[in-house]
Amino acid sequence: MIEIEQLVADCREANTEVQAHKAVQEVVARAVADPKGLMQGLGEMQRAGVQKLFQSDELTVLNVVWGAQMTLMPHNHEMWAVIGVYSGREDNIFWRRLPDRSDGRIRAAGARELCVGDVAPLGKDIIHSVTNPIPRLTGAIHVYGGDFFETPRSEWDPESLLEGRYDVEKNMRLFEEANNRLNAH
Ligand SMILES: [Fe+2]
Repeated sequence: MIEIEQLVADCREANTEVQAHKAVQEVVARAVADPKGLMQGLGEMQRAGVQKLFQSDELTVLNVVWGAQMTLMPHNHEMWAVIGVYSGREDNIFWRRLPDRSDGRIRAAGARELCVGDVAPLGKDIIHSVTNPIPRLTGAIHVYGGDFFETPRSEWDPESLLEGRYDVEKNMRLFEEANNRLNAH
């Protein structure tokens, strides 16, 4: 069983290294290499949601449980991130700004599939959207090189693909809506 306190301590320690992003990536990779042990430490996934495991100005560690077939609109973080999947699947679409547009319009630039045990490092300027493509919950550890909740950043309207201000509360509500959709079935 992976102790979550120890996982957080290891992430904080790694974050003090010169190559903090890479060091944290190695910690997350070790954790998701033992998905059963990690799930024992985290407790059974029961509903979609974002569980805060650690938050400071320098580092945020989250247990993100995606609802069945839930999609989060394109957004950036303004800090590096590491995603490690321990249950289910996560599909990431990566986007880039169109250089000749002043409204922040983006275009799809690439994609990355994440299966159990996979880890993806995201650079500071990355814009991504995330989909859980399967009809059950997906679980992932997300680590950010800063304060995920307090740093201003952008999201893009999923229909117009135009840039707007990221709304943390709205995004957290999307997880609740995913739970409600499931219960309505
Ligand atoms: Fe993200």
